[in-house]
Amino acid sequence: MADMVRATNITWHQGDITRADRERANGHKGVVLWFTGLSGSGKSTLAHAVENALFERGCRTYVLDGDNIRHGLNKDLGFSPEDREENIRRIGEVAKLFADAGVIAMTAFISPYRADRDKARAISADSFIEVYVKCDLAVCEQRDPKGLYKKARAGEIPEFTGISAPYEEPTNPELVIDTSSEPIEVSSKRVIDYLESHGIFNVA
Ligand code: ADX
Repeated sequence: MADMVRATNITWHQGDITRADRERANGHKGVVLWFTGLSGSGKSTLAHAVENALFERGCRTYVLDGDNIRHGLNKDLGFSPEDREENIRRIGEVAKLFADAGVIAMTAFISPYRADRDKARAISADSFIEVYVKCDLAVCEQRDPKGLYKKARAGEIPEFTGISAPYEEPTNPELVIDTSSEPIEVSSKRVIDYLESHGIFNVA
């Protein structure tokens, strides 16, 4: 990374419109729905299905997606443990800003390291909902929507999650969704039900 001059003498500016104001205007709370799981597990598909359902009921939503963010904000990062850590740190910060804006922010990143996910959780505190998109490696590998597992098995992609790099399963996620055993509509509804039962749509 290029030499950095760190900013000093900076203070946090608090605007007049509060998060609570924005949440009232939106009719729901701002939260971070953090989807984690292997490549091909269905994180993006599920996040977008949930977004469709939320959008239909008038919610403010946004999906931050691994493959897209790595084309822009994080295009300087690769897949070493350090780069993945930085990837997740930045996304954790961005997701927090979205939640502060009153948005239901959904992130779809492998986020394979527990410690990195826990830091993202700490950034958003009570607004963080971890959704483990569970799917056997064998099923992900069979789906192989981008042909990457095949390449990884052939040794063409180093440090590929599940093959030559680890995926640390969440120990205490708010939700576990098994995409190999239920249709997407059922999974999506389970996420919405969770939000419903945890008061996300109740704002005074
Ligand atoms: S993370 O580990 O840092 O959270 P992220 O979700 O941003 O990963 O990106 C994962 C996507 O990048 C995968 O779905 C896949 O398309 C692609 N990819 C390319 N190289 C790798 C690799 N070595 N390991 C995992 N995914 C990779």
